[in-house]
Amino acid sequence: MPELRRSARGPTRAAYPHARRLAVPLTALALLAGGCGNSPSTLRPHSRPAREIADLWWWMLAAAAVVFLGAIVMLALSWWRRGRPGLPVFGDRDDIARRLVVLFGVLVPLVVLIALFVVADALVVKDTGAPARGSTAMTIEVTGRQWFWTVRYPGTRAITANEIHIPANTRINIVARTADVIHSFWVPQLNRKIDMIPGLSNRVLLYANQIGRYRGQCSEFCGLEHANMAFDVDAETPAAFRAWLHREAAPATPPATPAQKAGADVFMNDQCASCHTIRGTSARGLVGPDLTHLGSRRTLAALTIPNRLSELREWIRDPQHVKPGNKMPGLNLAPRDLDAVARYLEGLK
Ligand code: CUA
Repeated sequence: MPELRRSARGPTRAAYPHARRLAVPLTALALLAGGCGNSPSTLRPHSRPAREIADLWWWMLAAAAVVFLGAIVMLALSWWRRGRPGLPVFGDRDDIARRLVVLFGVLVPLVVLIALFVVADALVVKDTGAPARGSTAMTIEVTGRQWFWTVRYPGTRAITANEIHIPANTRINIVARTADVIHSFWVPQLNRKIDMIPGLSNRVLLYANQIGRYRGQCSEFCGLEHANMAFDVDAETPAAFRAWLHREAAPATPPATPAQKAGADVFMNDQCASCHTIRGTSARGLVGPDLTHLGSRRTLAALTIPNRLSELREWIRDPQHVKPGNKMPGLNLAPRDLDAVARYLEGLK
């Protein structure tokens, strides 16, 4: 972001002796905005729609920087001429000063805003909107819930949560719905946000031009754990995706060890099964996420904690401590039952 840095080194430094000290925080801000490391920045696009959004952002930043610079120059000029009548260039010509105000205060902003609106409408809105019928290779249904995401692959039995697998370089039609309040599905590196509104089905294109993991986030305030309503999009080779979908569509692996068998018994006979589905068993609850292949996921509770045995045990023991406000109650299981349930779920690869 050279514009911002220049404003700290250029005319402002003459006017403000502290400008040099501002250079460090301004540079840090620029680095943050530019997206360092693996942050899910809009400015590191991995699809055409996301690239167009990023391009528009840079154009708007450039226009804003010019306006900002102009305002700073005017401010410096007025400070320099304080107490003396007239502008240094135009003397006492009030009519010219008035025309300058009309030009830069009304006409220039009008032209700039109309130009940005036309560019945004003509280029960005068209390419980031719902994909035309028949222009995508597959559909994935994503349902937002307080506070996780249910992911279905129509035409298959696969249902998962919070980790959306897609083939890279493939146009995907995302159908976005909600089961409760308004959420917003957003993968900054792949496309715009799309709201999930009660009673409506919205659609958005999901496309990744490179194999990789792209973080997504709910971007509409939806309650206490809105910030912990994240998800990942895993873009894979078509072969890896097909293999994943095949595994995901299969029913759950039966428990193998004695501890897992004991855990399955607790799960089916205690309250767990009334809220969760494990396909291939008698657990058919629909309140919480489908757990058929929970053991193969990287995270729990919509990317809140890693999916390891110790964290899984802690999550079942006291979910409200890990993610306050979520719909899962603490079940007061005996330590042995708790461990058995965790081991059973861990084995659901
Ligand atoms: Cu869901 Cu914010």
